Amino acid sequence: MKEKLQKIREEAIEKIQSSDNLDKLNEIKVAVLGKKGELTEVLKGMKDVAAEDRPKVGQLVNETRVAIEEKMEEMRKRLADVAREQKLKNEVIDVTLPSKKNFVGHRHPNTIALEELYRIFVGMGYEVVEGPEVEYDYYNFEALNIPANHPAKDEQDTFYINENIVLRTQTSPVQVREMEKGKLPIRMLAPGRVFRSDEVDATHSPSFHQVEGLVIDKNITFADLKGTLAEFAKELFGEDTKVKFRPHHFPFTEPSAEMDVSCFKCGGKGCRMCKGSGWIEILGCGMVHPRVFTMSGIDPDEYTGFAFGIGLERISLLKYEIDDMRLLYENDTRFLKQF
Ligand code: DAH
Repeated sequence: MKEKLQKIREEAIEKIQSSDNLDKLNEIKVAVLGKKGELTEVLKGMKDVAAEDRPKVGQLVNETRVAIEEKMEEMRKRLADVAREQKLKNEVIDVTLPSKKNFVGHRHPNTIALEELYRIFVGMGYEVVEGPEVEYDYYNFEALNIPANHPAKDEQDTFYINENIVLRTQTSPVQVREMEKGKLPIRMLAPGRVFRSDEVDATHSPSFHQVEGLVIDKNITFADLKGTLAEFAKELFGEDTKVKFRPHHFPFTEPSAEMDVSCFKCGGKGCRMCKGSGWIEILGCGMVHPRVFTMSGIDPDEYTGFAFGIGLERISLLKYEIDDMRLLYENDTRFLKQF
């Protein structure tokens, strides 16, 4: 009996030691300690052992089982460690590999142009303000010295919400809203969407954007207007840019002008960009009309000011030499991702 147990023990331990995976170890467990296992068989034979020897043999069987179980547990741990290490090795991440490309959106040409205007004018101390897109007739026309029967009001093809409310046709009403606040001096820039009932084509859209400028203080003169806008043109189109002011008419400014810049493409010699003239029209401007001041509660004898209105699309189309305004609104990513 003793020898038999010894043999079972040695053989089991040897098998355990030479097993190289957990499945094999399990097989051994079944073969030795299982219901029909070798050691179990020995236990079954206990009934043939003499009564006085039973405790001793029992103890021996137990020792054998414990020894085998301990060995098995030790091996199980070792194999589990090996298996885990192997798993980690297989799952290793090479952090030096290039990652998947992340696609980020592009800024719209209008956004880029607007940010450029902010950079220039905020740098000169202007504050950015906004006004409503749905606007009272009063702010859009009347307070800007465009009375009901004024031909300029006919010229503006306006979307009417009702008799008194329109979709603003210009950002100029923000001037009035700012003046009404009564906080002087004013140096403001008002960007925003405007609406006109135009047909869509390469140069027209029923909805586009303007950026309004307004400066009001004591002793502001046309020289301030010229100096400011000449500096703006240089910042936007380059140091060599020249400006030219042509007399014009706007009801809310007196005198009024349109400003041209020397063509940044040909330098003024004449090309396709400037249609051969060497000059490109860029904005409308003028000295704030005394009537506009009075209507907004500012004394025109004490304060003067200048205003300007820039078409944002005009700037982005010129800057990127885009020849069709519709491209700016279609949001075709093949177009947009160029910027
Ligand atoms: N509001 C004018 C327009 O839509 C543009 C404009 C011209 C704005 C002269 C001004 C200005 O502030 O002084 O055509």
